[in-house]
Amino acid sequence: MNLIFLGPPGAGKGTHAKMLCEKYGIVQLAAGDILRRNIKEGTKLGALAKDVIARGELVSDDLVNDMMFEEIQGLKGAKGFILDGYPRTIGQAEALEKFLVKEKIPLAAVINFDASEAVLVDRLSGRRLCQVTGKIYHVRNMPTKKEGVCDCHEKPLVIRKDDEPATIRHRLKVYHESTKPLVEFYRKKGLLHDVPAEGDAPSVQKVLEKLFEKIR
Ligand code: AP5
Repeated sequence: MNLIFLGPPGAGKGTHAKMLCEKYGIVQLAAGDILRRNIKEGTKLGALAKDVIARGELVSDDLVNDMMFEEIQGLKGAKGFILDGYPRTIGQAEALEKFLVKEKIPLAAVINFDASEAVLVDRLSGRRLCQVTGKIYHVRNMPTKKEGVCDCHEKPLVIRKDDEPATIRHRLKVYHESTKPLVEFYRKKGLLHDVPAEGDAPSVQKVLEKLFEKIR
């Protein structure tokens, strides 16, 4: 089953995509993670994306479309995938639609995570990441056993560069301008499912699993 996770920064798309993929054996394709991997590996795409991401802007549609199409084509034999943070503009959504039709890949649903700005800012400000596994923590909501280090590797956790307060505000503005129109785009196609995402992780996960069972 193939899904899109849509929603503002900090809504929990990455956290819950990881949990669902683990439970159902499908694959998470997170556009932000793939771009950050390219930056770390020093690829040409990474060099083009680095400053754009640091400013909280969107990387160009053409670059992201090509990157995601390649990732999807690489998933031979997978039981399904979650596109996390892609598409993020109407242009990306239209290109993806054409690509999926051409490749005969069905899209089951688009899950729209919704949370208030206060919750989003709080979640992003407290987010901490394991630099080895990419596991996502929160200083209060999902703390590690030992402060500041990952539960799996005891390596120091990191703060994403774009989780700095001014950049968070800019990312939210970019979301409202460029990504929010996708909610109506997919609603009109009958694919959209709204998920209130303000609850704690176990309760949001319960809602998602129920929805997943219903859709598949
Ligand atoms: P990306 O990495 O995709 O960032 P984002 O969309 O801004 O989303 P986040 O990863 O910040 O939030 P999330 O919803 O995944 O929340 P998370 O689960 O981590 O993109 C980064 C950048 O890359 C973009 O700004 C852009 O430059 C570029 N980019 C990416 N995709 C692109 C595209 N398609 N086109 C162009 N450019 C693109 O959770 C956040 C925190 O909350 C965590 O600390 C977590 O522990 C906590 N939390 C999560 N769920 C809960 C819960 N239910 N209860 C309590 N706490 C929770």
